[in-house]
Amino acid sequence: TVQKATNIVWHPSLITKEDREKLLKQKGCVIWFTGLSGSGKSTLAHAVEEMLYKMGHLTFVLDGDNIRHGLNKNLGFSPEDREENIRRIGEVAKLFAQAGVITMTAFISPYRKDRDNARALLNDGEFIEVFVKVPLEVAEERDPKGLYKKARAGEIKEFTGIDAPYEEPLNPELVIDTSKLSLKDSAQMVIDYLKEKKII
Ligand code: PPS
Repeated sequence: TVQKATNIVWHPSLITKEDREKLLKQKGCVIWFTGLSGSGKSTLAHAVEEMLYKMGHLTFVLDGDNIRHGLNKNLGFSPEDREENIRRIGEVAKLFAQAGVITMTAFISPYRKDRDNARALLNDGEFIEVFVKVPLEVAEERDPKGLYKKARAGEIKEFTGIDAPYEEPLNPELVIDTSKLSLKDSAQMVIDYLKEKKII
């Protein structure tokens, strides 16, 4: 997208990301959960957040409730709108990471290109892509909001996994199958990864 404003100058801050990280005793990063509707992205992100909070870490979860009802309420589910949804979320997540926060995003983010663009906004190691992998049948069986049923009935168009694509990550940092692992074990996998990479 084209930058429309001219005569704008980047204002450098005196306090760096590293300064904030020292204060917080953690590395600012983005944990990007991606997967089908009903895969458990949001549930997992919030479980990880709770564990990190109890360990004394500053976190924030960006998900549909705080984004599609606010910042992105003018966007739908066409490929173009999903792209813009993910673009904005990537930029917001980057700001949170610069603030030193362990930031989690829980969006379907079905297009590889859009996820890669979000990754490209961050430095190496700061973007952790977590593929929340469940078979479509499991997600459809769970159907917590009854949306798969509506999509099968043709009442919702362009529903991911039914009549809109989901492009699986090719090289995610983590793959978590929530149909095989408990929520606790799934969340622990993320925590272990953060420890291994010295993010916490
Ligand atoms: S995307 O593709 O990343 O822009 O989608 P996201 O912002 O994560 O929003 C997905 C949630 O919106 C509901 N919903 C739909 N999902 C997929 N396709 C269509 N057409 C659609 N319409 C509404 C659905 O409840 C998703 O919620 P989650 O939490 O993923 O189950």
